[in-house]
Amino acid sequence: MRVLVSGGAGYIGSHTVLSLVAAGHDVVVVDDFSNSKPTVVGRLEALSGVHVPVHAIDLTDAAKTERLFAHEQIDAVVHFAGLKAVGESVAKPLEYYRNNLDSTLSLLEAMRHHGVHRLVFSSSATVYGEHAPVPYTEDYDRLSSSSPYGQTKVMIERIMADVAAADPALRVALLRYFNPVGAHPSGQIGEDPQGIPNNLMPFIAQVAVGRRDKLTVFGDDYPTADGTCERDYLHVEDLAAGHVAALEHLDDMVTPVRAFNLGTGTGTSVLAMLQAFERAVGRELPYEVGPRRAGDLPAFWADPTRAQTELGWQAVKTIDDMCADTWRWQQANPQGFPDA
Ligand code: UD1
Repeated sequence: MRVLVSGGAGYIGSHTVLSLVAAGHDVVVVDDFSNSKPTVVGRLEALSGVHVPVHAIDLTDAAKTERLFAHEQIDAVVHFAGLKAVGESVAKPLEYYRNNLDSTLSLLEAMRHHGVHRLVFSSSATVYGEHAPVPYTEDYDRLSSSSPYGQTKVMIERIMADVAAADPALRVALLRYFNPVGAHPSGQIGEDPQGIPNNLMPFIAQVAVGRRDKLTVFGDDYPTADGTCERDYLHVEDLAAGHVAALEHLDDMVTPVRAFNLGTGTGTSVLAMLQAFERAVGRELPYEVGPRRAGDLPAFWADPTRAQTELGWQAVKTIDDMCADTWRWQQANPQGFPDA
């Protein structure tokens, strides 16, 4: 298939580009580079051994999106592009709703106009909100999220379901990621947050490489084994493989729109993650315990049964793999991707 990857220069998108090429698909990337560097593209080409066509456009521009589909012969879309910082979305809700919803609407319109019927969407476990029983299962239907970012994921899932209900040809896989971490084993591509990292793994990696003084653990008085929050971390390579599996199973899904959890099914605490990273680095890393972060849930993880039985997908990489690969990437690229 010739697959359009929106946000293909970003963290998860770039790893998925490599997995798609390795699985024999042609890839076209669209990215506005608002939160990624063009230099990732050269690395993708070096690692994959193929030319990766890139369109540097903003998908909220419906006319440009339409021209992209007129220019390229697309069979399927994997849609990652979007703003994704939880805290920023609380401060800038309009920017989040405008960007994430408009880009999705442009894509869906262009897909309809050009007869593209296959779609894989980058959703998030954040759609389960604050009250879903753990482990999370896909049939939980009171989806909600406490942040505008998360709410865009809930709304986009709904929009896609409504569009598919009106178009019997459309097939959509909604992939609900848990906590993606790690990097390509080559150390050539990985997560490159701009500014101070919001998420745990890139923060620890920047402490290890000397860009940050110490990790602040956001609360150690949660009702968990060691008092710190537990999350379902999964390797970005496993996650990328999940997209390939979903794409290749669109035609045999039991319903035209189907949600799949992509997680390991196991929770790991903040302190256990720090210890695992210390093993990868070979020394202790400085940390302090600070107050809880607003909005954090104590513990959640996936029930990944559906992806296993229906997509034949299962996460195989360990926490130690995630830390070793992140550390290799961070050491080789202490400041992330170069500007040029
Ligand atoms: C966060 C978002 C989630 C989003 C996901 C991926 C929130 C509440 N949730 O998930 O919606 O889909 O990122 O971008 O922001 N931690 C520390 N110190 C740090 C950073 C994190 O102790 O400096 C802790 C957090 O309290 C949490 C765990 O590490 O318990 C994981 O945090 P993070 O990596 O930000 O992921 P989530 O909060 O699970």
